[in-house]
Amino acid sequence: MLGGKGRLSAAMQGLQTRHPFPTIALHWIGAALVVALAATGYAMTRLAPGDPGQFALYQLHKTLGIAALLLAVARLAAAAARRQPRWAMRRRDRGARAVQAALLALALVVPMSGWALVSSSRLDMPILLAGLVEFPRIESLRAISPEAKSLVEPRLSTMHAALAWALVALAAAHALAALHRHFVLGDKVLRRMLPVLAAASVAAMSPAAATTWIVDPARSTLGFAGLETGNRFAGRFARWSADVSFDPAQPEGMRVRVVVEVGSAATGDGRRDALMLGDDWLDASGFPRARFEATGARALDAGRYEARGTLALRERIRPVAIEFTLEVADGEARARGTASILRTEFGVGRGMWSGIQVVAPEVLVSFDLVARPAP
Ligand code: HEM
Repeated sequence: MLGGKGRLSAAMQGLQTRHPFPTIALHWIGAALVVALAATGYAMTRLAPGDPGQFALYQLHKTLGIAALLLAVARLAAAAARRQPRWAMRRRDRGARAVQAALLALALVVPMSGWALVSSSRLDMPILLAGLVEFPRIESLRAISPEAKSLVEPRLSTMHAALAWALVALAAAHALAALHRHFVLGDKVLRRMLPVLAAASVAAMSPAAATTWIVDPARSTLGFAGLETGNRFAGRFARWSADVSFDPAQPEGMRVRVVVEVGSAATGDGRRDALMLGDDWLDASGFPRARFEATGARALDAGRYEARGTLALRERIRPVAIEFTLEVADGEARARGTASILRTEFGVGRGMWSGIQVVAPEVLVSFDLVARPAP
């Protein structure tokens, strides 16, 4: 079986496994509403009685509050309908998930308590959305007797204030935790939630992320192909390892190091394989490892890149260029590419094989890597 292991930088995961745009938009609109509601709620309840701005501020608070209620319903419906992405299911941080669940619940309960409070008020004040359209109040509460209202209203007021401040405190803790995870732990969750431009600038400000991606050996290959007396032959290396750090937004920062166990090469033809690993060709016992190293790549077009590096094979080190495509989906990266090398530049094919008549000098090396984030 083919083998290999490797790493791809977390920055790549952060930019590619972004939440869907509606999720990102609903999240940030919700956050802005909580801030605005806390500010208006605080200000309006501390105005001097009879202040001329009081009515307008209360109506603004109610308008934003009803918007928050509708948004919370939409978010809950979206969360229920959405299939969990794989990387989200793998997330281990149960504390963060519990906080998110509590935030979602409070985002619904707090505006409902405000709606109930206004519906049970003895003052019988309307809810005017943007000062124009009246939003219905809860009829069953509106209809209760004034005596019942004088009991219910203060309780709902206390409850609304307590739940609202709990929501604000939890949202602040959630934001601080996200910043801590991003800037201190080098996590990438924050980038998934940022709009593309903000994500790119946060990525640029961030220290190099340390998350490791592991190449799936069962689904990755490192192969080679050439021509012998005009007939194509192809083989694979069974043992190799790869360390790859790559951010599609900054391909020039790429780092690749591939180490190949030369003796693991096989073409499926025993005679040819024995010859290929012998002194005149790869000399696997004298030079057991080949090494490809590259620093920096450039984008050719969307998803396609070129990297120039060096290949150390037998006793020679020569420049080699690789071209590859990269796809990242569902938190899984797939890099496929080729490099064309001249075996004669590395002294591969000696003695009676030093000519190029029987075995062509060009050898095509190909790779197909499937990588996932380390658990
Ligand atoms: C996420 C949604 C909401 C948040 C975060 C929020 C936040 C707040 C805050 C922080 C206060 C001040 C509490 C205090 O310190 O006394 C407040 C008061 C108030 N809110 Fe909300 N609110 C929300 C939704 C609503 C809704 C939907 C309504 C009504 C339609 C509403 C009506 C009121 C009223 C009438 C008060 C004054 C309570 C009193 O003084 O008795 N709120 N809100």
